[in-house]
Amino acid sequence: MNVIYAKNYQELSEKAALLIGGQVIRKPDSVLGFATGSTPIGTYQELVRLHRESGLDFSRTVTFNLDEYFDCPISDTNSYHYFMHDHLFNHINIKKESVHLPDGMAKDAQAECERYEKMIAEAGGVDLQLLGIGHNGHIGFNEPDDHFVLNTQHITLTDSTINANSRFYKNREDVPKTALSMGIGTIMKAKQILMVISGTDKKVIAEKALFGPVTPQVPASILQFHQNVTVILAID
Ligand code: PGA
Repeated sequence: MNVIYAKNYQELSEKAALLIGGQVIRKPDSVLGFATGSTPIGTYQELVRLHRESGLDFSRTVTFNLDEYFDCPISDTNSYHYFMHDHLFNHINIKKESVHLPDGMAKDAQAECERYEKMIAEAGGVDLQLLGIGHNGHIGFNEPDDHFVLNTQHITLTDSTINANSRFYKNREDVPKTALSMGIGTIMKAKQILMVISGTDKKVIAEKALFGPVTPQVPASILQFHQNVTVILAID
């Protein structure tokens, strides 16, 4: 693991965007894996800046997001579809048809998970996957468990994740209870992984994930077994 300590959130965001930008310059038709959450927002702002000011060209890139709430229309401002367009896709020159998120309104969740997994494989796999980390060590919506989930799955969110997400809702009851998420196996197939971790409140879980035992109770710890991971931390 390549661990980079940034002096603050802005530096973390700039470094992460430069790594993603470098990937797009090296391979203009890169398949990029994107994540939601508050941590990557600065990275997306910097990518938009690189596009506007330096002409970073996304016209041939293809993207797959980690996850999407289930039973949540894309018009819902809390949908990840909305989040990604709001923070990134509406501000860069990516083609609409090159953007992929699981369909949170699919009638058959299982079939949608299989379709998503197949689409990623048919695109040649993810070249660079951006990840945040939850306070419980989750990546995507892969929550602490007694086993690692392999493929894209319909996942029931834990109370801890529902609580964390409830900050975006008026009532806790409105927070979606399930989601479609890439599995740990899907994430581990990415050729390169870039994890961003920000805030003193993430210090304990960052230490467990990066330096502790590899266990499905800390899903992100599996990244220790991946060959090409960069983690950028701003946790002081
Ligand atoms: P956060 O979310 O960046 O909003 O803390 C990270 C995650 O849950 O993956």
